[in-house]
Amino acid sequence: MGKYIIAGNWKMNKLPSETYDFVKEVAEATKGASCEVVCCTPYVCLAPAVEAAKGTHVKIGAENLHFEDKGAFTGEVSADMLVDMGIQYVIIGHSERREYFAETDETVNKKVIKALEKGLIPIVCCGESLEQREAGITMDLITIQIKKAFANVSAADAKKIVVAYEPIWAIGTGKTATDEQAEEVCGAIRKVLASLYDNATANAITIQYGGSMNAGNCAGLLAKPNIDGGLIGGASLKSADFAVITGAAK
Ligand code: 13P
Repeated sequence: MGKYIIAGNWKMNKLPSETYDFVKEVAEATKGASCEVVCCTPYVCLAPAVEAAKGTHVKIGAENLHFEDKGAFTGEVSADMLVDMGIQYVIIGHSERREYFAETDETVNKKVIKALEKGLIPIVCCGESLEQREAGITMDLITIQIKKAFANVSAADAKKIVVAYEPIWAIGTGKTATDEQAEEVCGAIRKVLASLYDNATANAITIQYGGSMNAGNCAGLLAKPNIDGGLIGGASLKSADFAVITGAAK
């Protein structure tokens, strides 16, 4: 459906001094991949990451941004700052940011709109907790998250957005959603997008799965029709594992 994109989310891992060599290693290991290969790094690692990615197929992304252009927002980073550094992707609304840093569907939408305005590709995260899944409200919750994230976004801009379905209970737990569970929700997300826009727009949007995706389980997940890639945490920190996943995305 959408273009295959495998993105690493390093989270709060790796040092700036390790970054240049590691991105070079990723570029070498993932050479010839038929998907887009992205490394999303902590802010302080972005400069060496961009430097290392120059002249390679690897694209660099940030893990967050602020929705205002500039001003008195101590500790925050704007879209212009990211663009100025050569950053192309930005993760928005990861469940860890929603849980620990008071990110809401409203701030996610503001960040999506700002990222698009400045030419960054947003990777918008959604996903349910175990409690929500067990209560049978997974699709209600995800429908709200998607509708709010895409509010006031035109169909032309919507096609540029990457959606990452990340069930919270599968993140960092080693407990992956089954291929069928992941496909069910990703397919439902595409239906929500079709209802907001149209089938052609929904089919053009890349929908990733994230949550303990690794070298061993990636092939089954990526073979599903509505899963167009992955957002990879732990397995993106080892270039060999990450390369198996990018190799499976075709
Ligand atoms: P893990 O792959 O470590 O479960 O993390 C997934 C994730 O949160 C990516 O954004």
